[in-house]
Amino acid sequence: MIDDAIQVQTGGKLYIAGEYAVLTPKQSAIIKNIPIYMTAHIKPASQISIWSDMFNYRAGLAADANYSLIQETIAVWAAFLGKNAAELRPFSLDISGKMERDGLKFGIGSSGSVTVLTLKALALFYGLQLSADTLFKLASYTLIKRGDNGSMGDLACIAYDDLICFTAFDRSRVRSWIEQEDLQTVLEKDWGYAVEVIKPSLSCHFLVGWTKQPSISRDMINLVKSAINPRFLSQTQAAVLRLKSGLETGQKAVIKEEIEKVSDLLVSLSPAIYNDKLQDLKAASQGLDAVAKSSGSGGGDCGIALSFDEKASQTLIERWQAKGIELLYQEKL
Ligand code: PMV
Ligand code: MG
Repeated sequence: MIDDAIQVQTGGKLYIAGEYAVLTPKQSAIIKNIPIYMTAHIKPASQISIWSDMFNYRAGLAADANYSLIQETIAVWAAFLGKNAAELRPFSLDISGKMERDGLKFGIGSSGSVTVLTLKALALFYGLQLSADTLFKLASYTLIKRGDNGSMGDLACIAYDDLICFTAFDRSRVRSWIEQEDLQTVLEKDWGYAVEVIKPSLSCHFLVGWTKQPSISRDMINLVKSAINPRFLSQTQAAVLRLKSGLETGQKAVIKEEIEKVSDLLVSLSPAIYNDKLQDLKAASQGLDAVAKSSGSGGGDCGIALSFDEKASQTLIERWQAKGIELLYQEKL
């Protein structure tokens, strides 16, 4: 079926540190790319047609709630080319690799990934080379326009497909630009964010524990955001920056200390973040040469761990298993 189609992929992401704080402009977060991929196939067709294995039926450009994210991404792409979606050279776009198992999502950023994936596929189809930075801006533009309440850090990580330190921009300012100016003008502006790729210089295991409890980031943000205060922000920022330098200079003690610190700050922010499973996930690192914490908005989905010897990794994984937490992914950093 997929014969002459062009194929592209995008992965997922998980927060290591700085979640919630990064909703505030100028705050930073460390976010890890997760190479569990979604794939898009795109090829010429007689009319625009999209399909996703999430929904299993085809849609065109007529309003369809399930496909609205992909449709709006196509509309932004058309605007980028100075056209309406209906004027685009028609294609058929197939997206597969839903980031879930047995109907339970992993919580590694599938909506961000689908947005970046759609843009990547369209860029290739129309023969344009997009930098990771332009991909990030276009994807952010799409989600801000849709009223997404996230920091867009997920998009930065997925567009760069790397371990990054993301410093947030002022989304309300970009939103007002979007309302008042055309896409090209908004893209040309300096949004005031930073994306730095982090090259860790120590050897450790990065482990992802999946709680199998789906959590909705949008709802968690709405629940928790009023608790975010200047003290939480300044202490998180200091810890994130120390963690970044600890990773770059390979200082294990600093890494452990600062991950513990951001984790404690999340505990104090809201009891909704560390639910029972995520408490288990963290407690499993006790007494081991390892550190573990909730990742992202919490309340379910995934947590992460860094482990500094083989034995600690094995014990951690066994303890997770005993608590019904599945090892979703592991990598040697
Ligand atoms: O739950 P996740 O992995 O989507 O992470 C959300 C992180 C927050 O800082 C709480 C929100 C955001 O978009 O930055
Ligand atoms: Mg989540």
